[in-house]
Amino acid sequence: MGVEICVEGLTKSFGHQVIWQDVSLTLPAGEVSVMLGPSGTGKSVFLKTLVGLLRPDRGSVTVAGRDITRLREHELYEVRKLFGVLFQDGALFGSMNLYDNIAFPLREHTRKPEGEIRRIVLEKMDMVGLIGAEGKLPGEISGGMRKRAGLARALVLDPEIILFDEPDSGLDPVRVAYLNQLIVDLNAQIDATFLIVTHDIASARQVPDNIGLLFRRELVMFGPREQLLTSEEPVVRQFLNGRMQGPIGMAEEKDAAQVEQELAQLGEHHGSGEHTGTPGSQDLPPRLLPGPGITRPPRWQAIARREAEPRRREVTGA
Ligand SMILES: Nc1ncnc2c1ncn2[C@@H]1O[C@H](COP(=O)(O)OP(=O)(O)OP(=O)(O)O)[C@@H](O)[C@H]1O
Ligand SMILES: [Mg+2]
Repeated sequence: MGVEICVEGLTKSFGHQVIWQDVSLTLPAGEVSVMLGPSGTGKSVFLKTLVGLLRPDRGSVTVAGRDITRLREHELYEVRKLFGVLFQDGALFGSMNLYDNIAFPLREHTRKPEGEIRRIVLEKMDMVGLIGAEGKLPGEISGGMRKRAGLARALVLDPEIILFDEPDSGLDPVRVAYLNQLIVDLNAQIDATFLIVTHDIASARQVPDNIGLLFRRELVMFGPREQLLTSEEPVVRQFLNGRMQGPIGMAEEKDAAQVEQELAQLGEHHGSGEHTGTPGSQDLPPRLLPGPGITRPPRWQAIARREAEPRRREVTGA
C-alpha cells in the first residue's frame, strides 16, 4: 500500500533567491495530503523537487528507502516509475494526439503489447470523461480537457505516489466536485500516496487527510486535516478561510501593525459569516468519503486506523 515520502531539511534557491528553507514533513503512505500557499511560494518547485526534476541545495527526500536527491539520472529513472505526476501546465506533447500522449508512459516504461496499452488508455480516458477525444491534439481542446488528459496520463502506470499540481484549476465547479470524488475513490481503490497542490479551499477542507501550508519561504505547518482546520495560527486561519485580513497580502507581506489592526477589526465583526471567536470554534467539514461503488477495503482500513489511533502524529511548525 502506497509509499511514504520523508522530506528532511529541504532548502531550495535559484541564484540568490531562496524559495523555501528547511522544509521537513512526512507524506504518510496511502494518505492524501494537500499543499496550500499563496502564488509564488514554491509549491510547484516543491513537487518538482520530490520527483527529482529539481535538485535541492540541502536536505533529503526519502522514497522507498532511497534519498532521491542523491541518485544518478539512470537510478532516478527507475524511482520515477513509482510516481504519477500532473504538472501545473499539463505538459502534454503538442504534436501528439491525446491517445498517444496518454499512452506515452506505458510505451516508455513498459513492454506491454499495444492491445493492452489500448485497454488501459481507454479505461483512464473514460475515467476522466475524455472518450471520443482520442484523436484530438492538445491545441484543439479546452484548458479543462487538457488538464483531464494530464490526469489520465498520470494514472496509466498505476503509480504508488500521485502528485497533482492544481488539478482543479481551469475546471468548472461541477467538474471540481467530480475530480474530488475521483481522487477519494482512486485513493480507496489503489491506496496510493497523494500530494495535491490546490488553491481551492473547499476541496482542501474536505478531501485530504493532511494539509500543509507554505508561506514566507517556510512550511508554516503540516499535519492532520483536523488540526490545521482548527488551528489558531494567523496565516493558516487566513488561508483556510480565504479572507483578506491577516498576514498575507496581494503582492507582498503586510507589516505587523496592519495585520494586528485587521485582526482586531475582524474580532468586532461577528456577522461576517465565519468564525472568529473562541479557539477551536471553526466548523470541521465532513470528510469526503469514497463512493458507494468502492467496496475494496484499504481506504476504510486507513480511516479506521487513523481514528482508532488518537492523533499522536507530529504537526510540523505548530
Ligand atoms: N527553473 C526556475 N528557475 C528560476 N526560478 C524559478 C524556476 N522555477 C521557479 N522559479 C521561481 O520560484 C518561485 C516559486 O515558483 P513556483 O512556480 O513553485 O510557485 P507556486 O507556489 O507554484 O505558484 P502558483 O500558485 O502561482 O503556481 C517563483 O519566484 C519562480 O519565479
Ligand atoms: Mg505552481
